[in-house]
Amino acid sequence: MLFVLTLVIFKTVFSISSAEDVQVDPNGYVMYCPCMGRFGNQADHFLGALGFAHGLNRTLVLPPWVEYRPSDVKSHQVPFNFYFDVKPLEEFHRVITMDKFMEELAPTIWPPEKRISFCYMSRNSILNKGGQKEADKGCNAKDGNPFGPFWDTFKIDFVGSEMYAPLHFDVHHGSTAAKWLKKYPPDKWPVLAFTGAPGSFPVQEENRALHRYLKWSEPVRAAAMSFIHKELPNAPFIGIHLRNGMDWVRACQHIPETKNLFSAPQCLGYNNEFGLATPAMCMPNKEIIIRHLRKLLKSSNYESVFVASDNNHMLKELANSLKKNNIVVKKLDPGNPHIELAILGMSNHFVGNCISSFTAFVKRERDSRGLPSSFWAFPDERMAKKSMQHDEF
Ligand SMILES: *[C@@H]1O[C@H](CO)[C@@H](O)[C@H](O)[C@H]1NC(C)=O
Repeated sequence: MLFVLTLVIFKTVFSISSAEDVQVDPNGYVMYCPCMGRFGNQADHFLGALGFAHGLNRTLVLPPWVEYRPSDVKSHQVPFNFYFDVKPLEEFHRVITMDKFMEELAPTIWPPEKRISFCYMSRNSILNKGGQKEADKGCNAKDGNPFGPFWDTFKIDFVGSEMYAPLHFDVHHGSTAAKWLKKYPPDKWPVLAFTGAPGSFPVQEENRALHRYLKWSEPVRAAAMSFIHKELPNAPFIGIHLRNGMDWVRACQHIPETKNLFSAPQCLGYNNEFGLATPAMCMPNKEIIIRHLRKLLKSSNYESVFVASDNNHMLKELANSLKKNNIVVKKLDPGNPHIELAILGMSNHFVGNCISSFTAFVKRERDSRGLPSSFWAFPDERMAKKSMQHDEF
């Protein structure tokens, strides 16, 4: 409730403060819909889009975050700056929120008759599946959810499609950026509006470090700090992420045939330099969790454990097992994924799930600030033993 209220206040403040003049970027803009996955995926994609816009030297239009609520079949669009500060991003690259862009720049540089949507190749219309009408051969950027509701938030309709294959988003290597500039010069194409994020999931290795420019907004930071002060003892605490919902149980079944599932490169490396995913890494059991925590408790004077979970927080089981250590075990109630992420980011040690993109968000943030993190069941104990024996010889 408090959060909804803040959102209203935020919006009002923004429409007042947008009176200042916005300069047009002669190098153009990159715009996209974060149309795939939930927050964790969208955050990975965001870093990719930021790297891409930087590589092309175009201003990045900051899209709202797309959210799904059980009460509504349509997606909800939450302004970018509700969760994150815009200022720190500007230290790295030119950005503008989508509200501001649409209000102040779109009428002149991207009027309705010039709105072309970009996609790699044609996306068959969901409404006319199988039909081979000419009209179906475009991007169909607004077909389905969250696509339609996203662009409708800004009253954007497209008059045409542009398929950019075989160009790709990896602007860190070779002549890719030059090819984009050649094919889509900014004077002819001031806005590249993508139907999906110009970035990959998981985030490319080169863009991971950009997370340091992604800073929680003041309301999120304040909510996280207030929880820590009120609910946790005034002492170092461990933050843990337990990903264990039904969807996750099913996802973990793809191990071992998928060597690098979801965000696994964050611990296994982008080319599995550090091993293969294991079921325990994906779904650690109670023994693994307790053993990991006991080891940490021995190493430092922690007094509490903060648990974030999509399903089972295991509060009682953890408190019982750690009774001897006099440890307080807490969760945020009611839950709120963004505030939970911020709390995990502030913990003295973080333990996460290597496969999860939610964990990946926390890990990247902490890496950018030099804070320690570890993963359940990683490194694989058998491997660790082997390398220890190796060291001894
Ligand atoms: C990038 O664009 C900005 C502003 O449009 C310009 O000032 C700057 O020189 C450009 N940088 C490069 C490397 O072209």
